[in-house]
Amino acid sequence: MAVLLGPKALLQAVAYAWGRDRLTPRGPLSPWQGVGPPVGLEPVPGGVRVRFPEAALEAVFLGEDLLRLAWSPGEEVPPYPLAEAPTPWEPQRLEGGRLLRTPRMALWVGEEGLELRDPQGEVLRREAYPERAGPAWRHRVALRPGERVLGLGERASPLDRRGGVYRLWNRDPGGSYGPGEDPLYLSVPLWLSLLPGGGGYLAFYENPAEGWVDLQGEEGVVAFLGGPFRYYLLPGPLEAALARYLRLTGLPPLPPRWALGFHYARWGLPTRKAVEEAVAGFLGRGLPLRAVHLDIDHMRGYRVFTVDEGRFPDLPGMVGGFRKEGVRTVVILDPGVKAERGFPLYEEGLREGVFCRLPSGAVFRGPVWPGPAAFPDFTDPGVRAWWGGKLAAFLGMGVSGFWLDMNEPALFAAWGEPTFPPSVRHRLEGQGGDHRLAHNLYGLLMARAAWEGFRRHAPGVRPFLLTRAGFAGVQRYAWAWTGDVESTWEGLRTTLRALLGLSLSGVPFVGSDIGGFSGNPPPELYLRWFQLAALTPFFRLHSARWTRPREPWRFGEEVLLGVRWAMALREALLPYLYTLAWRAAREGRLLLRPLFLAGGPYGEEAFFLGEALLVAPVLEAGARAKEVPLPPGGWYPWGEDGLLEGPAWVRLPAPLDRIPLLVRSGSLLPLLEGAGLALHLYPGPEGAEGEVYWDEGEGEGPHRRDRFRLLPVPGGYRLLWEGEGAYPWPWEGVGLRLFGKRLLGAWVEGKAYPADAGGVRLPPFREAFLEVKGP
Ligand code: NOJ
Repeated sequence: MAVLLGPKALLQAVAYAWGRDRLTPRGPLSPWQGVGPPVGLEPVPGGVRVRFPEAALEAVFLGEDLLRLAWSPGEEVPPYPLAEAPTPWEPQRLEGGRLLRTPRMALWVGEEGLELRDPQGEVLRREAYPERAGPAWRHRVALRPGERVLGLGERASPLDRRGGVYRLWNRDPGGSYGPGEDPLYLSVPLWLSLLPGGGGYLAFYENPAEGWVDLQGEEGVVAFLGGPFRYYLLPGPLEAALARYLRLTGLPPLPPRWALGFHYARWGLPTRKAVEEAVAGFLGRGLPLRAVHLDIDHMRGYRVFTVDEGRFPDLPGMVGGFRKEGVRTVVILDPGVKAERGFPLYEEGLREGVFCRLPSGAVFRGPVWPGPAAFPDFTDPGVRAWWGGKLAAFLGMGVSGFWLDMNEPALFAAWGEPTFPPSVRHRLEGQGGDHRLAHNLYGLLMARAAWEGFRRHAPGVRPFLLTRAGFAGVQRYAWAWTGDVESTWEGLRTTLRALLGLSLSGVPFVGSDIGGFSGNPPPELYLRWFQLAALTPFFRLHSARWTRPREPWRFGEEVLLGVRWAMALREALLPYLYTLAWRAAREGRLLLRPLFLAGGPYGEEAFFLGEALLVAPVLEAGARAKEVPLPPGGWYPWGEDGLLEGPAWVRLPAPLDRIPLLVRSGSLLPLLEGAGLALHLYPGPEGAEGEVYWDEGEGEGPHRRDRFRLLPVPGGYRLLWEGEGAYPWPWEGVGLRLFGKRLLGAWVEGKAYPADAGGVRLPPFREAFLEVKGP
C-alpha cells in the first residue's frame, strides 16, 4: 500500500488506523444460545407465528413462490433493499397448521427446524432453529452431497462457494486483488442452492449487518453480528427464483443505449489535452468509442465536485466536443469531501449537518485521496437530496453519467479495517444506528442519492451510474465493475468468477477493467481480456495511474487487429444486447448466465450471453483451443454453417484474434451491419425465433418490439414478422443471412429478391418466403 499512496497519505493511514483502534470497542461475542423448541403456533395473515422460549418467528407467504421468515427480537433497519412492499398471500394450511403449502412450495414447521419443500413434498432446504448471541444471529443449513452454493455477491472464489468461508462486508482490498481475496467491494447476502438433480432454491437475507457464510463443512452456517434476522426463500428453477428476487429488490432500469458501447477510462490523464488525445486516438483509428470516463485527475486537489480549471479548462467545451463525435462523458465521484476550512462543499456540509458523526457528536474524518475527509450520511433522505443536487452542475455541463467509487466506504488505513470505525453514527431514516448496520448500505445509498439527483436534475434522461460497492437492490440504480483486479491470467479467471457471481447475485449489468487494473498485462492477456469484456454487459478499458499506457494501439498491429474484431463484434451485437437489456429491465432476465442455469453442466469455463450466445473465453496463456461442455441442442460456431451437437465436450479453435463463440440453433440474432439491421438466422429443426427491442436509445419516448419467427416449409422457410409499438422501424428494410443452409433468394408479396453471398436485403414485410438449397 505504501507504494500506492505516497509518504503523506501513508502517514495519514497510520494515524487513522491508530485512532480507529482506540475508537473501536472490542469485546468477545456473548455465547451462542439456541432459541429453544417451538412452544406455540398461531395463524397470521399469509402464514404462521411460531413462539419459542427465547424468540419468535413469523413465516409469511408473499406469493406462491416467495416466503418471508422474520425472527424477533432483532435490530431493525429500514427496508432499503426492497423495491416492493409485499403483501401476504394465503397458503393452504395442513397438519394442524404446521405445514403451509402453495402450488409452488411448502414450509414445514418441525420440532428442531424448518423445511422448505417443493410441491411434491421433496425437501429443498432443511435449517435448524437459530441461535442468538446478544444482537447476533446464526443458523445452520443442511447441505447435501453434491449440492452447490452460489451467489453471495462479488467474490474472487470459485462460483460454487462450498469449501470456503465468506464475509458479508463490503471491502476495498486496497489497489489490487487476486484470487481468493475476500471480501470484495460488493457483497449480497443471497444464497443460491443448486441441487444435484438440477433444482434448487434461493435464500435472501435482508440484513445489511456484517455477517459470514461458512460452507466448509457438511452444513452451512449463516451468521450476522446484528441487524434483523429476516430472510426470504424462493423455490427453483434458479432463473425463475432470480427473476422473482429481482422484482422484490427492484428490476434494473433500461440503460441509455450508448452505455452498451465501448468505454475508455484511465487513471492518470492529468490534463484535458491528454484526455482529448486519447479520445482522438480511438476515433482517428476508427475504433468505436462511446464513452470516456474522467477519473479523479480532473479534480482540484481531489476535491469532489470540483474541476481543476488550469488543467481542465472549459470542461463543458470538452464534453460538448466529445458528444458531437458520439462520445459521452462519465465523471467519477468519491464520497469523501475534503475536510478543509474554506472548501465551500465542506463548509456547506458542516452547516447543513450532512456528515457522519462520532458518538461524541464530532464530525468523523478519515483519510482518502484529498487527505482527511468527511463523509455524507446517505442513510438520511435529506443528505441524499443534498448530494444528488450536486450532480446538477455536471449534468449542466453535458456529462452523461457518474462513476461512484470508494463507496464501501473505503479509507486509507495502514492496518485493520479500511473503513469507518463501527461506532460512527448514521441516521438510518431517523431511527439511528451505527456503522455496523449502515456499512454495507453505504454504496447502495450513495447510488440511490446519485440516481435520485440525476432524475431530478436531468428529467427524461436515462441515468447511467457505475458503482464499486453495493448491496441487494443496487441494480435499481447502477451498474457495477469488479474494481482493482490484478493484471494476470489468474486475475482474468478471477474476474470471470466475480462477474458471474455478481450476475447470480442479482446484479445483471457488470464488467471489469480490461487488462486488469493494477499491472501491465502482456499483449496476449490484454487481447483475451478485451475479447471477454466485449461479451460482458459493461465494456470498459481502465487501469491504474502507475501502469503503462494501454490503449489498443500500444501493443502492435496483431493486438490492434484483434481488438478491432472484438469491438466490431460488440458494435454488431448492439441490437441483441439492447434487447437483452430491455428484457432484464422488464422481466429480470440475466444477461450473463452460467451454463448450469439453462441445462448445461456446472462449470465456470463458459457462459451464455442472453439465450442465443455461448461464450467460451480463453483464460490461459498460449491456448489456441478451448474445451467447452456443450449443453443439449445444436450449436453453430460463430459465423459458420456447420452444426455441433450437444450434450458433448468439444474442442473449439481459439486463434489469438478470436474468442470461441457459439450460437444456439433455433436462434435469430439481430445485428447491426453497416447502417442496417440484419437478422442472422441459425435454424434448428423447428426453425428459429428472436426479437428486437429498439427506441431512440435514450429518454422516455416510444419504443418498438419486433418478433420474428422462421418456420420450416418445403423448399425453404416462412419468415414471419410481427412489430408493435409507436417507434418507427429505423432501418431500411432488413437484411437476412442464413446459416446451415444456402439461401437462394426470398419472396415478398410475389416479388423475388435473389440472394448473394452476403445474404439478402428485403423491404419490411409480414411474411417472406426464403428459398434454400441443401438438406
Ligand atoms: C479506485 C478505483 O477502483 C479505480 O478504478 C480508480 O481508478 C481509483 N480508485 C482512482 O480513482
